[in-house]
Amino acid sequence: MVDVLSDEIARFVRAVGPDPDETLSEMDDYAEREGFPHVGPEVGAFLRFVARMADAERIFEFGSGYGYSAYWMAAALPDDGEIVLTEVDEDELELAREYMDRGGYDDLAQYELGDAMETVEDYTGPFDVVLIDHQKHRYADAFEAVRSKVPVGGVVIADNAITAGPIDFEALLTIAEGGAPDDVNEHTRGIADYLERVTDDPDFETIVLPLGEGIAASYRVS
Ligand SMILES: C[S@@+](CC[C@H](N)C(=O)[O-])C[C@H]1O[C@@H](n2cnc3c(N)ncnc32)[C@H](O)[C@@H]1O
Repeated sequence: MVDVLSDEIARFVRAVGPDPDETLSEMDDYAEREGFPHVGPEVGAFLRFVARMADAERIFEFGSGYGYSAYWMAAALPDDGEIVLTEVDEDELELAREYMDRGGYDDLAQYELGDAMETVEDYTGPFDVVLIDHQKHRYADAFEAVRSKVPVGGVVIADNAITAGPIDFEALLTIAEGGAPDDVNEHTRGIADYLERVTDDPDFETIVLPLGEGIAASYRVS
């Protein structure tokens, strides 16, 4: 994980923020051990905070991995709530099931193996919170696919809005300021296109927050 915050500030945000439970700590250890690009505790805590603020009853994720982000958000759901986890990797999804079960969230979860872009078509929504965290070049398409299922007051969050291994931040900044850099890789282009798509949408208000690898939060205002 390429943290936007300095180590010291990240430690401070972690120290002041809500403590991960034992399972989440184990999941953090798993990410560290396996080099898995999970959203990390600062973003996890923020996702749960957003789900609480939105009074979320239904949540959809594009790219759930082994369930880390889903686990954080599930704690904000009511007993009859629902969170849809999508994942192309069968082993990751199976691990997600185990962790969600340990947290007592299994009854809330739908586990969907396969391309999230196809799975989202099988659900009518509404989704109060959506996390986009799969393939960066498909973020804008993911937003398009789920947009009509997000009610006023709902929030769409995209991870890696500032950085990640293959993202060229200089190019991203140039594009955000109206420039046109040469040789933009598809990951960077994907994030730039996504940010342009959501910020141009009059029904959403978007801000980028420098937490984790950067997140874009888009609130549906109309
Ligand atoms: C960066 S990880 C994030 C996982 C999770 N949100 C977390 O914080 O732990 C992205 C995940 O998306 C999955 N993925 C990639 N393309 C996908 C697709 N088209 N549909 C569903 N999942 C996908 C990858 O296998 C990977 O596990």
